[in-house]
Amino acid sequence: MQNIEKIYDYAPTEERFMDAVVDGLSQEQKQLPCKFFYDAEGSKLFDAICELDEYYPTRTELALLESHSGEIAELIGPGAELIEFGCGSLQKIRVLLSAVKDPAAFVPIDISREHLVQSAKDLAEEFPALTLRPVVADYTQPLDLPTMESVPKRVGFFPGSTIGNFTRPEAVRFLKVVADIVGRGGELLIGVDLKKDEATLNAAYNDQEGVTAAFNLNILERINRELGGDFDVDAFRHHAFYTKERGRIEMHIESLKDQTVRINGSSFDFEPGETIHTENSHKYGVEEFLIYAGEAGFDPVQTWTDPNNLFSIHYLRVC
Ligand code: AVI
Repeated sequence: MQNIEKIYDYAPTEERFMDAVVDGLSQEQKQLPCKFFYDAEGSKLFDAICELDEYYPTRTELALLESHSGEIAELIGPGAELIEFGCGSLQKIRVLLSAVKDPAAFVPIDISREHLVQSAKDLAEEFPALTLRPVVADYTQPLDLPTMESVPKRVGFFPGSTIGNFTRPEAVRFLKVVADIVGRGGELLIGVDLKKDEATLNAAYNDQEGVTAAFNLNILERINRELGGDFDVDAFRHHAFYTKERGRIEMHIESLKDQTVRINGSSFDFEPGETIHTENSHKYGVEEFLIYAGEAGFDPVQTWTDPNNLFSIHYLRVC
């Protein structure tokens, strides 16, 4: 594909996955980092989650982007370099790319190589005049991006409320990294899921079809596939719930019996009911989020919410 400059590959190694798994399963409260959900299978399952009736964030954010794409494109202006952090199937950037005037380049960053390469190829075909620089990387770690020297502006794009998967201090740290990448005067368009009634939240992470359960449990399958683990996946279950005190959904994998799991020479004991904490999904009020963004050096420019107050999109500028 001519408009894909090259694939920049800073992928985490298998060793890092192994270290994270052994370290996480050795903690008092066993845990696994949610970034390891997204192998090829996990990415497919996540795309399926986004189509679920119960999972309102994707369609609500997309509708917000579509109805405000003109205003957003005005704010971005011509010739900007767009950088998307954790882009998945690149569905939402299409809305921006169709509205923004002459973007200098698009830098999609994702941890899942296969998924990124395929999505970038599809996008390159659809936008033949756009320069694409896909980066396979763990964007939660500091990285040197192949950005252009002389662009009028860099604009980060972080949709999907993925910011919610960080703890609040991690979110501020990440936003500081983004502020550093886009530089003074640079901007960020970020999607943030809002606090709301618990029933809606619990349904979104406990869908009837069991797709979220499969997504959660796939991390055990991945450990079996890639690290030679012997998890009996049927002896575990998906468990997700909203905790009001922490303002977040917690996802866990619960052991259904007394069992021992072996992974490449290490063994881990589970009691019945013991869990592995796999993900947090924090929810924010509009003002609450802007306080954290401010701590990271961003000024608010504009915020959009949907009529049902399910989801917010913030346009921020590095001050
Ligand atoms: C990617 N991230 C924002 C999703 C969320 O809602 O926290 C991941 C997810 N986990 C379960 N369903 C969706």
